[in-house]
Amino acid sequence: MKTEIIKWTFRLLPALALLAAASIALATDAGGPGYSYGGTAGKSGNCLDCHGNAKGIGDRYFIDPVKYGHTSHARIGCPACHDTVGRGHPGDQLVPAKTGCLECHGDKAAEYARTPHAANASCGDCHDPHRVNAPNEISGQEMNRMCASCHKKESMAAKHARWLPQADLHLDMLPCTTCHTGSKNYVINLYIIKREGDRRKGVFRVADFAELEKIAAGKDIRSIIDRNGDNYISLAELGLFNRNPAYGHLRLQGVLTPETVTHNFEILQNRWDCTFCHASGPGAMQTSFIALPEKSGAFRRVAVEKGAVLDTLNGPPDFYLTGASRNGTLNNIGLAIIAGGMVMPVGHGFLRFLTRKNRKGKEHQS
Ligand code: HEC
Ligand code: HEC
Ligand code: HEC
Ligand code: HEC
Ligand code: HEC
Ligand code: HEC
Ligand code: HEC
Repeated sequence: MKTEIIKWTFRLLPALALLAAASIALATDAGGPGYSYGGTAGKSGNCLDCHGNAKGIGDRYFIDPVKYGHTSHARIGCPACHDTVGRGHPGDQLVPAKTGCLECHGDKAAEYARTPHAANASCGDCHDPHRVNAPNEISGQEMNRMCASCHKKESMAAKHARWLPQADLHLDMLPCTTCHTGSKNYVINLYIIKREGDRRKGVFRVADFAELEKIAAGKDIRSIIDRNGDNYISLAELGLFNRNPAYGHLRLQGVLTPETVTHNFEILQNRWDCTFCHASGPGAMQTSFIALPEKSGAFRRVAVEKGAVLDTLNGPPDFYLTGASRNGTLNNIGLAIIAGGMVMPVGHGFLRFLTRKNRKGKEHQS
């Protein structure tokens, strides 16, 4: 029942959100806290007045208002999950209730409960309810961080390397969910990564909003790569980005990401099959996007020219298309790899083309 009501409230949200936006504007004008989603609790006032103030409340009880503000949960408000905050809070010694996820996400919970992994991790081990994002707004790297709290990167690389060549590369270029959930509809998300440290020893990690904002010098960060501002990235624009000396410390990292994931974290037999990804032919010309970070930590995506991918097929020297590897036995692929790393059609060639500056960089280093 409660779930129904909440679902309906949610459907009304666009209208409510408008109202809220208006009140945010007013509150900001008045120099107030600038937030009204939080709901009120009698004398306690707006929850985020206290909980959104990092210094005042301390790490444990801090809710980042910008990150939280972007989530679907912000629209249902704190009291939807903490419905028993006393009037005397926080001085009343009463611990506010914390609604479980089940109440509103019964479908996901039921799906997950049927899997053996449910005994290993609870919803809260992977999701912070104050920072949730939709699957297409979250980076592959961040999804992998959810897993890394229990499945350490090094030991995972070692375990997968028993059968998967270049396991490190695979684990960098693929979210774990691509192989371990019933995932569907793959796209390539290209993230702008930034070198930390000096040219030789520096490591790359996904650049955040603040860093890119600085680089864009006051303009929309999209302008770093979308030069003409048409909200579409042409291959020419990708080229300009790759060649721009001012962006020497920036690169693109392509991650083959599923658009939808299930909650069955398991070993799927067809992911042993290299041709699940390493198949050739136009059918596998994945859709790709540049994923740009937003202030909230979520990502918004800008489409990358599709036809351009096909155009490049015959072009760049480091793009290989081998129909021959279709039979997909590990041996054949293994042989081809030994024969000079000339396999990798599809996503591969494409990814390697788009991110080829990376490898040039590496060659300089070695
Ligand atoms: C006047 C400041 C203030 C306001 C306003 C406030 N809180 Fe708190 N809250 C605190 C402090 C301080 C704590 C730390 C624990 C304590 O002292 O009880 C806390 C703790 C909590 C906890 C964690 C309790 C626990 O121990 O697990 C929750 C949940 C919580 N608040 C929710 C809310 C919600 C929801 C609202 C708005 C309806 C709200 N708070 C408004 C100051 C505030
Ligand atoms: C979708 C449900 C949901 C919403 C909305 C929500 N919370 Fe929570 N909150 C939870 C759950 C569940 C926990 C317990 C998490 C845990 O124990 O890991 C929690 C924990 C907390 C804690 C305690 C953190 C700790 O580590 O002890 C505070 C403080 C808190 N919430 C404040 C807020 C405030 C303030 C808001 C609104 C700005 C809010 N919450 C909105 C579900 C929610
Ligand atoms: C009071 C209802 C409620 C509770 C409790 C709740 N959620 Fe949600 N959650 C929602 C709504 C509404 C959405 C928006 C999308 C939808 O309709 O499913 C959402 C969306 C999400 C999303 C996707 C993010 C997005 O923007 O689409 C995740 C992940 C999520 N919830 C996780 C959790 C987890 C984990 C918990 C338990 C800690 C939880 N939720 C508890 C109502 C709730
Ligand atoms: C082992 C890690 C893990 C656990 C445990 C887990 N999730 Fe998720 N969940 C994910 C990942 C990864 C995604 C996709 C990225 C995202 O949106 O956060 C996701 C997505 C979601 C979404 C958004 C789905 C969509 O298609 O919009 C909801 C809602 C959600 N989870 C709820 C839950 C609930 C409820 C539980 C507990 C019953 C739970 N999750 C347990 C990893 C987990
Ligand atoms: C809270 C800890 C925790 C988190 C977070 C977690 N796992 Fe697990 N997972 C475990 C444990 C414990 C096992 C069982 C022992 C093992 O195989 O390591 C396991 C087992 C697995 C297995 C093997 C299942 C089988 O059938 O043998 C897979 C696959 C897996 N996890 C994938 C994931 C993925 C993908 C994520 C992130 C989206 C994730 N896990 C996040 C704790 C966790
Ligand atoms: C290319 C597909 C692929 C990717 C990417 C992948 N896995 Fe796996 N993983 C597999 C397959 C296939 C197995 C079964 C291999 C075996 O049993 O030795 C497996 C086995 C596992 C196991 C059980 C291993 C054991 O021996 O206990 C865990 C846990 C696991 N994966 C977690 C992860 C996590 C976490 C990630 C992301 C960092 C990840 N996997 C990325 C395909 C993949
Ligand atoms: C779930 C998808 C997936 C599966 C399954 C998969 N790969 Fe990959 N593979 C990738 C991606 C993505 C990359 C990185 C692409 C890039 O660098 O352009 C990659 C890279 C590689 C590379 C390095 C290519 C290069 O150009 O440097 C080799 C070699 C490789 N894979 C072999 C295999 C073999 C052998 C198997 C089966 C045992 C396999 N892969 C299974 C997705 C996959």
